[in-house]
Amino acid sequence: MVKICCIGAGYVGGPTMAVIALKCPKIEVAVVDISVSRIAAWNGDQLPIYEPGLEDVVKQCRRRNLFFSTDIEKHVAEADIVFVSVNTPTKTQGLGAGKAADLTYWESAARMIADVSKSNKIVVEKSTVPVKTAEAIEKILTHNSREIKYQILSNPEFLAEGTAIQDLFNPDRVLIGGRETPEGQKAIQALKDVYAHWVPEDRIITTNLWSAELSKLAANAFLAQRISSVNAMSALCEATGADVTQVSHAIGKDTRIGPRFLNSSVGFGGSCFQKDILNLVYICECNGLTEVANYWKQVIKVNDYQKNRFVNRIVSSMFNTVSGKKIAILGFAFKKDTGDTRETPAIDVCKGLLGDKAKLSIYDPQVTEDQIQRDLSMKKFDWDHPIHLQPMSPPASKQVNVVWDAYQAAKDAHGVCILTEWDEFKTLDYQKIFDNMRKPAYIFDGRNILDVAKLREIGFIVYSIGKPLDPWHKDTLAVA
Ligand code: UDX
Ligand code: ADP
Repeated sequence: MVKICCIGAGYVGGPTMAVIALKCPKIEVAVVDISVSRIAAWNGDQLPIYEPGLEDVVKQCRRRNLFFSTDIEKHVAEADIVFVSVNTPTKTQGLGAGKAADLTYWESAARMIADVSKSNKIVVEKSTVPVKTAEAIEKILTHNSREIKYQILSNPEFLAEGTAIQDLFNPDRVLIGGRETPEGQKAIQALKDVYAHWVPEDRIITTNLWSAELSKLAANAFLAQRISSVNAMSALCEATGADVTQVSHAIGKDTRIGPRFLNSSVGFGGSCFQKDILNLVYICECNGLTEVANYWKQVIKVNDYQKNRFVNRIVSSMFNTVSGKKIAILGFAFKKDTGDTRETPAIDVCKGLLGDKAKLSIYDPQVTEDQIQRDLSMKKFDWDHPIHLQPMSPPASKQVNVVWDAYQAAKDAHGVCILTEWDEFKTLDYQKIFDNMRKPAYIFDGRNILDVAKLREIGFIVYSIGKPLDPWHKDTLAVA
């Protein structure tokens, strides 16, 4: 019986291992983590992450062939295949600060594997890491090996949050990179055999180690670049009277471009896009490829520009000040169907409004008050550390009120901002919301999910990203 252990019970490790356990009943899968509270949650009724379909999968295999534990050393020692899916934050100090990945947690995991192993192991990189990390890990393991043989594989995860279970059940591809030696090929085959339980063989791609590592950074950079491209177009649409949703539809019909990932928004968020691009930029710079680095940097600059543009639009249309005005924020997660707030554009938008002394009333169906208060007080990049090492929860800010109902958030507000595209926001009673707001009542749709014409009929002043502007906004254009 093959035994698998995954170090890191986060957004990637948890769902991925649950699906492996479900699809491979003969494999014993242990997911381990240093966070006691996270493991307790995986073993309890309220899983630590919200992901459609996950609970069902976990319930089917938990304590059968899927185990969550803090006994890291025991499970690593027993495993044939060890996945490593720990945090890889952006460095905030020293060489490469603000760009390079901090591999502290990776290195400590590798040293621990070397310390406790008594049998040969395949070690699989699951968290996104800079190209050539495998080489560093290989060095740590072999220099501490005591006769034990390790094979390092790169098996990047392409699941997207909110659709993680579907993505794992039916992946576009599974990518496995390894050494081009007979031992390396044998290790690749062993991991291939795991996925072959449910993934068709032609969807399992094998490459060398560096291609697999770089492919992950490249895929995220290409996806993020599409969003920045359409967001750059949204600014031009507003200036010219074009409608970005019509432009997206028209260009997406070109089969060479394709229709997906062309939704203009207040900006992309999530734990991967910005971090991976910063990583890519750093690697390019280290290799003297300044022009290539600058090209990818621009994707992040446009994303920052889009968030700033949104805040400026709100402030300028409300007579150039939001000081003391109540603004309702609907949606805080970085996208719908997840409670994840890592790098969510809502953080920058809220901080921008708070900087102009607005009073915020925030509602998100999946994000807790504690998380929101922490996000609004945390420094850049601090979110990406194990939970118990993150800053303590701050005292609740008086300017920020977190509520459990969209109508309550909007009551007596001057403006409503849609920052996450939750389905429930599409069907709210906007007449009721309008009636209970201060006038003029504004709506700023950062996700283009609302019916602009209907809202204007009700009496709202509406701004929807990349759509033709109200005369009201045109008049304030000079300031924005
Ligand atoms: C991403 C990649 O899609 C996934 O393959 C990788 O493994 C991890 O990073 P994720 O961060 O979960 O997944 O979410 P994704 O669906 O890619 O969305 C990222 C951000 O882009 C979100 O903030 C989303 O709202 C935004 N987005 C997405 C847009 O603004 N417009 C779009 O058209 C698509
Ligand atoms: P991802 O989105 O990549 O899954 P998360 O931050 O959700 O990232 O998960 C990473 C997990 O790894 C966290 O739960 C953290 O506690 C855990 N972790 C970090 N370092 C170690 C380590 N050395 N040993 C065990 N678990 C670790």
